[in-house]
Amino acid sequence: MSAADLSGRRIVVSAGPTFEDIDPVRFIGNRSSGKMGFAIAEAAARRGAQVVLVAGPVSLPTPPGLQQRVDVRSARQMREAVIAQLPADVYIGAAAVADYAPAEVAPGKIKKKDEQLTLALVRTPDILAEVAVHARRPTVVVGFAAETHDVEFYARGKLEKKKVDMIAANRVGVSGSGFESDDNALTVYWLDGERALGPAPKTALADQLLDLILARWPA
Ligand code: CTP
Ligand code: CA
Repeated sequence: MSAADLSGRRIVVSAGPTFEDIDPVRFIGNRSSGKMGFAIAEAAARRGAQVVLVAGPVSLPTPPGLQQRVDVRSARQMREAVIAQLPADVYIGAAAVADYAPAEVAPGKIKKKDEQLTLALVRTPDILAEVAVHARRPTVVVGFAAETHDVEFYARGKLEKKKVDMIAANRVGVSGSGFESDDNALTVYWLDGERALGPAPKTALADQLLDLILARWPA
């Protein structure tokens, strides 16, 4: 890794959770601190890339050297923000996007009434899959996968189904790694290979992931 080995590259990173509002005081969200995506954005900027960070609701400071940070709340807003940033050389989807959102947002606070409440949920857009088949598709599209079991099976499934170049799967269950932690362990899969990274601080993993992306850059 040299100091400016990403100079001239335009990299879009999405990070953090999305919040899908139920009513003015409640939402459906994901457990994601945003630290992994922010670390990737920071590392890429340090290595000379023009970085746009699309961030869900997180409480993290903006990394130095970014070209732009766009804050969003919902999956739908994240999709709009990401698509608006194309074309790019690389898209790294590190966000924990909610898969379902309430079919409608109640205009006022829902009051408790019956013993049971059923919420109708609808699928959110799959941002990663859309970017990967977009007319302005980035040269390299990288997704993440959060799995609790059968990690390789599901990660390779996502690689194929979403037509992305790499999937970085969180190895959950490795002690001290994962959601709110500063450390993580990833296994990165591509069509004809894989590499285990960490356990290591997310900042170190970010650089190792960027190294892998550069090494596999199409000639
Ligand atoms: N992703 C996305 N838009 C969604 C859902 C997921 O862009 N609506 C992206 C995530 O940012 C991640 C990748 O897809 O890069 C995989 O997310 P994950 O939740 O692991 O996979 P899903 O396809 O949502 O499948 P499931 O949750 O059922 O495992
Ligand atoms: Ca999901």
